[in-house]
Amino acid sequence: MSALPEISLLFEPRGVAVVGASPHPDKVGHKLVDRILDSRYPGRIYPINPKGGEVLGLPALRSIDEIDGPVDVAAIAIPAERVFEAVQACARKGVRHLLIITSGFSEVGNVAEERRIVSFAREHGLRVVGPNIFGLYSAAASLNVTFGPRGIQPGGVAIITQSGALGVAMIGKTAVERIGLSAIVSVGNKADVDEADLLAYFREQERTKVILMYIEGVRNGVRLVEALRATTSRKPVIVIKSGRSSRGAVAAASHTGSLAGSDAIFDDVMRQCHVLRADTVRDAFAWCKLFDAAPPLQGENAVIVTNGGGVGVMATDACEQYGVALYDDQQALRETFAAAVPSFGSTKNPIDVTGQAGEKEYGACFAAAAKNPAIHAVIALLCETAMVDVSRIVPMLQEAERDLRAAGKPMVFGMFGGATIEAQVEALKQGGSSAFTDPYEAVQTLAALYRFRRWSQLGLRPPDEVAIDAGRIDAVAAAARADGRRFLLASEAQAVLEAAGIPRPQVRVCRSMDEAVRAAEAIGYPVVLKVVSRDILHKSDAGGVALDLDDRQEVLDAYEAILHNCRARVPGARIDGVEVCEMVAKGVETIVGARRDASFGPVVMFGLGGIYVEVMKDVVFRALPLDRREAAGMIEQIKSYPLLLGVRGERRKDTGIVIETILRVGAILQRCPDVSDIEINPLVVYEQGRGARAVDARILLAEGQGGGGHG
Ligand code: COA
Repeated sequence: MSALPEISLLFEPRGVAVVGASPHPDKVGHKLVDRILDSRYPGRIYPINPKGGEVLGLPALRSIDEIDGPVDVAAIAIPAERVFEAVQACARKGVRHLLIITSGFSEVGNVAEERRIVSFAREHGLRVVGPNIFGLYSAAASLNVTFGPRGIQPGGVAIITQSGALGVAMIGKTAVERIGLSAIVSVGNKADVDEADLLAYFREQERTKVILMYIEGVRNGVRLVEALRATTSRKPVIVIKSGRSSRGAVAAASHTGSLAGSDAIFDDVMRQCHVLRADTVRDAFAWCKLFDAAPPLQGENAVIVTNGGGVGVMATDACEQYGVALYDDQQALRETFAAAVPSFGSTKNPIDVTGQAGEKEYGACFAAAAKNPAIHAVIALLCETAMVDVSRIVPMLQEAERDLRAAGKPMVFGMFGGATIEAQVEALKQGGSSAFTDPYEAVQTLAALYRFRRWSQLGLRPPDEVAIDAGRIDAVAAAARADGRRFLLASEAQAVLEAAGIPRPQVRVCRSMDEAVRAAEAIGYPVVLKVVSRDILHKSDAGGVALDLDDRQEVLDAYEAILHNCRARVPGARIDGVEVCEMVAKGVETIVGARRDASFGPVVMFGLGGIYVEVMKDVVFRALPLDRREAAGMIEQIKSYPLLLGVRGERRKDTGIVIETILRVGAILQRCPDVSDIEINPLVVYEQGRGARAVDARILLAEGQGGGGHG
């Protein structure tokens, strides 16, 4: 137990008290004692009730103070207004963990009381799970301290759920689906203990093979990301999150904000943490069951064994869609399966014994797959035919699966047919197999193992640091603040980009024709000339802009024309000079942004830029800090990635500079606390080796007074 974090006492307590234990069978406090007894918890159980008496044959103590012996967990099921007093008594007794079942706290606006309880508890060394929870089950302690169903089956799946009702329903459903639990914890209002604390325990605990989380809202996303990263490098984590809507995006001030629907960020951050996100409880359970029961995937070569060509093709399509790699060494396949497959069948993957084959030929294929070490997973498909007595096939399939598992190979079943087949699928499921009535589902479930394996091999990297001049950026921000602004002017934004080392068009302010020509020659033709004057807001209208100047003479003419036009059209304007800018050539327009997300803290965005950015919504997000490979992953994730690879004979674009820009934009948010939003649109990207140009940048400062110093 010493390698486990302190929270392990929550799952392996030496004694459990139930505050509010009642002799009345319909009360929560009664059910809690009943479930503890039913689960055969071997430690001491202390029902607490001020009236004394007995609860389910156990003597009830009038107060926690009367407990004689260690008690690490107290489940509290008394009305909200009495909870604080009970927590005080628990602190006196030296209880370590509280399961506050009681509702009526922050979820109904009673925030102050919840805070009072949690701060008192923390000050006295107690951790609080809840309030507003259904309790906890721990296979390690053989302890069910919930008011949910009895008879929870032990196994390797740990469930953390924010929803109580769904959690209770999940317990029932796991029993139906034959999924064994190592633990289930309801976190409710997450006033103290949250997913990150629990992940710290489950990732160490040997009996937990896979962790399933149901999340409604993320409170401390930065902590959650850290905990997830530390966990997924060791075991799979599956998450179901409700609320795919984009609440919170409405009031956003920039594209980055309006594109950053909370769910889009959540989805991308989960991917970044190598967490498998399930859309439905059904998918999540299917994945959990396979992760728990099957050996880990040793390699990527799957074979499909089928007695029907059509389902074989469907499964092949599904493999392509979900990223399951099919073993493709034709000679090895022939050698492995020739003896098992009838002459009219096929040893090409899918291995097709055809509808004419019987149980013997079909079964022989699994034995052959078990023996070949180059095969790593088996997808067994079966159609109801006259040649196979499906009603007798389950024992053979179960034996085949045992042999395959013993050889380290996961197996999934996709069986299609009438009532008899469906009954066999059910029988397989009850026996602990991953069996489905649809080949797609079978493949999709196996695909979860593939994704986890690939992520595990990839590993997670430490963040990459980039050097930026944060002091200069802070000074720019401070000057804007002093001017009473939360947004930066174009020239200020340019200064920030320069301080961050982000490539932007070259610009020089010149005060004479000679200077302008020298600047144009240093920058390289073509160039653009623009008047610099605080009195001229609309430069083009005043004739203060000249584009696409190709040589010295054009620059001289344009310089003269600009001064002439501006003096004529805006009489008395103070002209500070003329800006000579690099003329930005066409390239792929991308967008790079960063903002502070309410859940995950600073996040960066990358996507297809230009004026259609909000229509295309082809953007991805990542939480900071970031490493270069992850930034490269962002680029590869967008749908328009082929544009950066080059289409129709174009050369590959300079993605290296995009990666660098993403990291630098992220670094600004990390190191300059007063900057809240950055959006470079477009970042025009050129061919490999030719870089990119940040043409336009919008930068906002934090709401309120803003920060100072470097984070
Ligand atoms: N210490 C110990 N026992 C106490 C006590 C105290 N300080 N104060 C009261 N009790 C006893 C009561 O006397 C009663 O026992 P009795 O039946 O012998 O009289 C028992 O504790 C329960 O108190 P009671 O007032 O009857 O409350 P209740 O059982 O009706 O409701 C809760 C208590 C916690 C169940 C209720 O307040 C609640 O929050 N329900 C929602 C729970 C929920 O849904 N949680 C989220 C799930 S996801």
